Amino acid sequence: MAFKSFLSFCIVAISALIVSADHGDLGSRAIDWNNHQWMAPGPNDLRGPCPGLNTLANHGFLPRDGRNLNMSVILDAGFNGYHMQPDGLALAVKAATFSTDDPFTFTLDDIKLHGTIEHDASLSRNDFALGDNVHFNETIFKTLADSNPGVDYYNTTSAGQVQQKRLADAEIANPNITNTAKEFFIRSGESAFYLSVMGNPLTGVAPKKFVQIFFREERLPIAEGWRRSDTPINGSTLGPLIDAIAEQSHWTTSGGCPWIRVGPESATTLVQHG
Ligand code: HEM
Ligand SMILES: *[C@@H]1O[C@H](CO)[C@@H](O)[C@H](O)[C@H]1NC(C)=O
Ligand SMILES: *[C@@H]1O[C@H](CO)[C@@H](O)[C@H](O)[C@H]1NC(C)=O
Ligand SMILES: *[C@@H]1O[C@H](CO)[C@@H](O)[C@H](O)[C@H]1NC(C)=O
Ligand SMILES: *[C@@H]1O[C@H](CO)[C@@H](O)[C@H](O)[C@H]1NC(C)=O
Ligand SMILES: *[C@@H]1O[C@H](CO)[C@@H](O)[C@H](O)[C@H]1NC(C)=O
Repeated sequence: MAFKSFLSFCIVAISALIVSADHGDLGSRAIDWNNHQWMAPGPNDLRGPCPGLNTLANHGFLPRDGRNLNMSVILDAGFNGYHMQPDGLALAVKAATFSTDDPFTFTLDDIKLHGTIEHDASLSRNDFALGDNVHFNETIFKTLADSNPGVDYYNTTSAGQVQQKRLADAEIANPNITNTAKEFFIRSGESAFYLSVMGNPLTGVAPKKFVQIFFREERLPIAEGWRRSDTPINGSTLGPLIDAIAEQSHWTTSGGCPWIRVGPESATTLVQHG
């Protein structure tokens, strides 16, 4: 089927991009966790739809005001807070620069621009067309929270099942859903991100308690026993998790062409509905 081969081309091409961008390690350095206590954002601090970046800002790995973000600021924060190497993050940062007209920096709020990275059928946020696509929503998050019943961890199987359920629910609630190979790839990457930063990046097994605190409080669950991964998280560790999650999600498109919105004035999507 033509579509299936297009899809595998997309996934292979994007995975290859991630894995081939070898910027090396930023070098290990001692992290003074006392300088990185969790603090709730103040009234003038910006946050956005990404629990990973919001958490880094709440711990002062990113500027606590959520402003003046660029490639080096994010790569440093991802390394220090999560032990993520540049190759796992750089593509997302490049895409994020499309979310604002400012050529040099972006904010945690800018990246909510629907159709750049932000997409429908999220794990913890509503669809743009249905209301609030930025803030955590417990009703939406319930699918993930209740997944993998009977055990105290999430894994690639449960993460794939959650993606399938969230998509099925969003397709019913949002007739204008955008769900192409692009959104599928981003969503599978985000699931691999939460399993990796809150759990074991080699096995993709993450304690439920840690994942729930990460999403609900945008806090590193240090007091509960979480530790920054000793294993660096990079394209080589993320790739197999993304593949396993994608497989378990039994994804099919809702139609339309993959399209990236390159600025606030750019069209949201090329998807034709009806
Ligand atoms: C530093 C490590 C990161 C982690 C652990 C992380 C984790 C996540 C997770 C788990 C989601 C899914 C939220 C949901 O579906 O409700 C997400 C969404 C998002 N992330 Fe990140 N992320 C990271 C880095 C980044 C970077 C570097 C960018 C771009 C600069 C980015 C931009 C976004 C955006 C725009 C969304 C919203 C997508 C949507 O749900 O519509 N993230 N992230
Ligand atoms: C990114 O921002 C930091 C902090 O504002 C600044 O020191 C650095 O020069 C900037 N990097 C680039 C590549 O613009
Ligand atoms: C879907 O999109 C059409 C055309 O843009 C719009 O008229 C309609 O209100 C949208 N429906 C929903 C539920 O967002
Ligand atoms: C959370 O999402 C549900 C389901 O779409 C919606 O009914 C509810 O209004 C949302 N809550 C908030 C606070 O936006
Ligand atoms: C994930 O956990 C469930 C429940 O224990 C289990 O049935 C499933 O095989 C696990 N998946 C993987 C990839 O280990
Ligand atoms: C990627 O991470 C793995 C596991 O942590 C590590 O063995 C490998 O050296 C890393 N690759 C690069 C290019 O740093």
